[in-house]
Amino acid sequence: MGRHNNSNAQSSMNSNQYHGTKTRFQDPDEEDGVESSNLEGSIEVVDRVTEDVTMGGDPDVSFVDCDDGDDKTSADYYFDSYSHFGIHEEMLKDVVRTQTYQNVIYKNKFLFQNKVVLDVGAGTGILSLFCAKAGAAHVYAVECSQMADMAKQIVETNGFSDVITVLKGKIEEIELPVEKVDIIISEWMGYFLLFENMLNTVLYARDKWLVNDGVVLPDKASLYLTAIEDAEYKDDKIEFWNNVYGFDMNCIKKQAMMEPLVDTVDPNQIVTNCHLLKTMDISKMTAGDASFTAPFKLVANRDDYIHALVAYFDVSFTKCHKLMGFSTGPKSRATHWKQTVLYLDDVLTICEGEAITGSMTVAPNKKNPRDVDIMIKYSLNGLRCVISKVQHYKMR
Ligand SMILES: C[S@@+](CC[C@H](N)C(=O)[O-])C[C@H]1O[C@@H](n2cnc3c(N)ncnc32)[C@H](O)[C@@H]1O
Repeated sequence: MGRHNNSNAQSSMNSNQYHGTKTRFQDPDEEDGVESSNLEGSIEVVDRVTEDVTMGGDPDVSFVDCDDGDDKTSADYYFDSYSHFGIHEEMLKDVVRTQTYQNVIYKNKFLFQNKVVLDVGAGTGILSLFCAKAGAAHVYAVECSQMADMAKQIVETNGFSDVITVLKGKIEEIELPVEKVDIIISEWMGYFLLFENMLNTVLYARDKWLVNDGVVLPDKASLYLTAIEDAEYKDDKIEFWNNVYGFDMNCIKKQAMMEPLVDTVDPNQIVTNCHLLKTMDISKMTAGDASFTAPFKLVANRDDYIHALVAYFDVSFTKCHKLMGFSTGPKSRATHWKQTVLYLDDVLTICEGEAITGSMTVAPNKKNPRDVDIMIKYSLNGLRCVISKVQHYKMR
């Protein structure tokens, strides 16, 4: 079944790729009282700029000096991707993500009123603005990239300078003007939940500044595993290297197999149950808890072939009046995190009721802790297929 849209850290979310509806959590779009007029406003401005540039016949127009004082090269942006507005645009336009945070904050004002909040990795300052609007006494918005300068301007333009203080720097290096905060809010999740390893930064902030009975938002994150039929796309992405215009490029196939693919999965491809691998309690866990081995059992719900295992996560905010959160699973509305596809070396011929059993080991890479090393041990002792294998993957 064809489905995928290739992805890398800066790719845009394809809004046509929404599959199914949320099962565990409410769709943020269905929440009432949510304002969405800000985006419409910005579209108007973009149209006007385009008009100015394309209308004139003056040859000078095509050489308009676009120097706005920003002398960065693309290499600077590569090494500091969060400094560029594009990645923030993608995150802000991920309505599942952003509206869930907005709903959590606006519908649970009792959590925020007269409280001191720390926004870990504030980006454009969107979460800080939500918190300020919900009645926080003060919000400290900490952002290490150049986007901190924009966040300062945004806070000022929107009239929140007296409530929000933007601090430019790394959480691990800055000094907060207060000793303790009541709430830590952060959107730290990476692909496969743990890619980028920003969770450690949140845990660092929690241990240093959060009051004893303080609240971490979100406070639960769970990783799931399922198995899919994916013949067509495995052919296109993996078997492709067997014969490239008549040449054997198998050596690249080995690398392609080792790199999990971030992509959207059609729920019709799912052949087994979804297994909960690990739940992390962000308010209690230690950094070491992000390295783990978890067993799994995936039982086939039909006769089919299995080409890949698929991982996804959900996050929840259990301190809300009513449980809130979102899932990045294939049956939920698509997010920019999509799902993480791990191809298997062999095709598993599985019959209904048979189970793939095994374990997944996850740990930050020793050399580059922002990368994630994954090991999967699996076996199937079926009627038509008997296999036992270990495979290694690296998210980078
Ligand atoms: C996933 S983005 C979320 C941005 C914003 N909170 C939002 O929801 O749109 C994470 C942000 O955290 C920042 N960040 C990552 N590690 C950080 C650290 N150690 N100290 C401060 N900021 C950090 C990144 O630069 C990035 O802007």
